[in-house]
Amino acid sequence: MNDLYQRAKAALPLSQSQYSNFKVAAAIRLKDGNIITGVNIENASFGLSNCAERSALFSAYSQGYTKDDIVEMAITTEKDHLVSPCGACRQVMRELMPLDANVHLVTAKGDVTTVANEDLLPYGFDAKDL
Ligand code: THU
Repeated sequence: MNDLYQRAKAALPLSQSQYSNFKVAAAIRLKDGNIITGVNIENASFGLSNCAERSALFSAYSQGYTKDDIVEMAITTEKDHLVSPCGACRQVMRELMPLDANVHLVTAKGDVTTVANEDLLPYGFDAKDL
């Protein structure tokens, strides 16, 4: 997991967080060994900003990967406390990542909290409900 965290950490400076000054980066490990990163991208129309987790997932899918290619995700910030994904990201992660994929929440100090994707959104809505 440390290599995945290091890739997320290295991506933090790419964060476009000029309004919140809150940098977030995510890194996704794929079964083929590749790692894809994403950062939060903000907009002057704040609601149009995109979180790091969704940036990483959308990037992976845009490169041809899908749910079954994903092994795990690491998320990090510049903060020393634990930061976990927002509700919108949890919804997207539920659909675009395996439910049993590990999500590693890593503080700037390197402390790691690992949760299963499915545990991030109890009673979540998904395609089976349509
Ligand atoms: N943000 C993320 O990138 N991921 C999260 O899970 C929480 C929030 C971003 C969105 C916005 O650019 C900034 O952090 C402050 O909310």
